[in-house]
Amino acid sequence: MNVKLPIREVRAREILDSRGNPTLEAEVVVENSVTHELACGRASVPSGASTGQFEAVELRDGEVRYFGLGVRRAVENVNAKLRDALLSQDASCQRKIDERILDCDGTQNKENLGANACLGASMATARAAAEALHLPLYQYLGGIHTVCLPVPMMNILNGGKHADNTVDLQEFMIAPAQAESFAEGLRVCAEIYHNLKGLCREKGLSTGVGDEGGFAPDLPDARSVLSLIVEAVEKSGYTPGHDVKIAIDAAASELYDKKAGCYYFPGESKMKGQQVFRNTEDMIAYYEKLAGEFPLFSLEDGLDEEDWDGWQQLTARLGKKLQLVGDDLFVTNVKRLAAGIEKGAGNAILVKVNQIGTLSEAFAAVRLAKENGFRTVISHRSGETEDAIIADIAVAVNAGQIKTGAPCRMDRVAKYNRLLRIEEELGPFRRIR
Ligand code: PGA
Ligand code: ZN
Repeated sequence: MNVKLPIREVRAREILDSRGNPTLEAEVVVENSVTHELACGRASVPSGASTGQFEAVELRDGEVRYFGLGVRRAVENVNAKLRDALLSQDASCQRKIDERILDCDGTQNKENLGANACLGASMATARAAAEALHLPLYQYLGGIHTVCLPVPMMNILNGGKHADNTVDLQEFMIAPAQAESFAEGLRVCAEIYHNLKGLCREKGLSTGVGDEGGFAPDLPDARSVLSLIVEAVEKSGYTPGHDVKIAIDAAASELYDKKAGCYYFPGESKMKGQQVFRNTEDMIAYYEKLAGEFPLFSLEDGLDEEDWDGWQQLTARLGKKLQLVGDDLFVTNVKRLAAGIEKGAGNAILVKVNQIGTLSEAFAAVRLAKENGFRTVISHRSGETEDAIIADIAVAVNAGQIKTGAPCRMDRVAKYNRLLRIEEELGPFRRIR
């Protein structure tokens, strides 16, 4: 007899995220049709700051409370419309659950119910189903294919929209290239993080952190950030380029000045006392130079989310040398990813479940990427919660990589700690490569 997991309750509430802004938390209760036990799954929804314009709509109340950022309407959509749509449905078929969520919303970009409402219900359903079957979430979602821990891309220096410093590119990340396990890789990165703090202190730089837990000192430009990181890697006893590689998320859509038709670097301008603009060609040349000087292996959102031609040129020039990750470009959306694959724009996708609004759609993006030789990176948002679901997702889909901030701030560390527990369960034979 096949076990069914009819949904018995669906509810949501407004909670706070890591920036002190409201976000939605959902709970789904299911019944195991064999044992009649009830199980509850809970999930909370993250939120971005450098949000792509093609992301599904995050529904905010726009009222006075919380400066307009309240999510009471999204909560109400879960408690009424989504509850009606999901009650009695079998939680063990995530695809059908997500299809019902999509039908209930009825729009392309989830502007009706809000992607936050949709995602909360989608993720809480998966959690409830796993709980009812007494399986860890990664195993429920990935079955026997869950074999591989992701390599962490750890954001140790924050800039752009995630900090108030003069660093214009948003994220500078390190990845352990030689570690024999996730735990070892995590240790390598955390040690470098601490040495980076020491170096900042020695040089009289701020050791305050940005939204994702990385340090946020005032530095003149990307080159000085990369030099400082290389110094921290060496101080920790590792060889840059061999033991540890560097990744950048430029979040270039945030720098793009539509009117001027080029990229403006406000921090670099301030530090140099002159306006710094770069056009698409300059940007590509800039990255090429940085990649020649430093052990870069990955560049995310190097160009604007609408600059398909630029992305094609970037990929033609640097695609063999670098992983070129589309975040705002693809927004975890199979249609935009398919366009990128066809045009030869990028060679990897950043997967953020709240950019699209259901687990099934995010998994479809991962499948499409893999079928076409694109790499996948599962990602947090700059506004996070204690929910570590992306750790389970990264393992479930064998993503290969995860980026979830610095080893600082519990909203980030919770994901790393969850991966440590998963590695313990999966056993020591798993390499992270
Ligand atoms: P966001 O930043 O969550 O603010 O969009 C993360 C990223 O750009 O990767
Ligand atoms: Zn990004």
